[in-house]
Amino acid sequence: MDQTQLQKLDTTVLKWLDQIHHLVSQRVQQRMQIDTKSSRRDLVTNVDREVEQYYVQHIRNFDPEAKILGEEGFGDAVKSMKGRIWFVDPIDGTMNFVKQQAEFATMVALYEDGEPLMAWIMDITQHDVVHGGPDYGVYHNDEKLKLSDDIGLADGLVALSGARLLYEEPGFPQIAKAAIGYRVYGSAGISYLHVLTGKAVAYLSRMRPWDFAAGVALAKSLGLRVGTIDEQPVNMLVSGSVLVATDKAYADIMALLGKKG
Ligand code: IPD
Ligand code: CA
Ligand code: CA
Repeated sequence: MDQTQLQKLDTTVLKWLDQIHHLVSQRVQQRMQIDTKSSRRDLVTNVDREVEQYYVQHIRNFDPEAKILGEEGFGDAVKSMKGRIWFVDPIDGTMNFVKQQAEFATMVALYEDGEPLMAWIMDITQHDVVHGGPDYGVYHNDEKLKLSDDIGLADGLVALSGARLLYEEPGFPQIAKAAIGYRVYGSAGISYLHVLTGKAVAYLSRMRPWDFAAGVALAKSLGLRVGTIDEQPVNMLVSGSVLVATDKAYADIMALLGKKG
């Protein structure tokens, strides 16, 4: 895609995000329908479904040939990364949405033949967006983001999955102890925003494709390190560990886990 097409794509999705901010702000004032999925801690609401349906309808109009991989199942059954694929996580951090009405995000990412084209993560209540791609640059709202200082784990905050830490998945407690501090935000999107804007040096979790597609795309575009702690490349269509970090924090974490960086 040339710059004009990327610009049009960005402007279009930013308009959708404005409308989603508005829609979710209205819905939080109303009574929500809350259901559970795989466990009592895995929540979904009518708003998750409504936002995903909004995305699917608008993506189909804008990019009819593309496939959509959405968390709530309104998209397509995506089996390969060939062609254009949109990843959609309508509300990321649904528990925070339900319990705090804050600290939740919406995430969209567009890949072509397995490579990121553009991605967007919005802190919905703050209406704060990080957006961009490898040939476009990465922006924090209107401001171009620069790769922040290369700070190591001992001097930086690390964002981690609370469940992985609580159940002591190998590596997670060691990483939390080695960092100057650790944070559990309860939303992959919010965690990515902290790393992308230089407030945290790393985010590690084990997640599903829609949880990491936008974060991986934006982190790569900005020049952060992206990988897994399983010594396998990130597979965009399956769940797995995903580590996004500054160069130094990435090397520190791999060394701590005795893995190749
Ligand atoms: C979840 C959140 C959470 C992360 C889980 C995700 P959801 O997303 O991002 O922080 O630890 O792995 O599934 O279900 O609220 O969209
Ligand atoms: Ca979600
Ligand atoms: Ca999610």
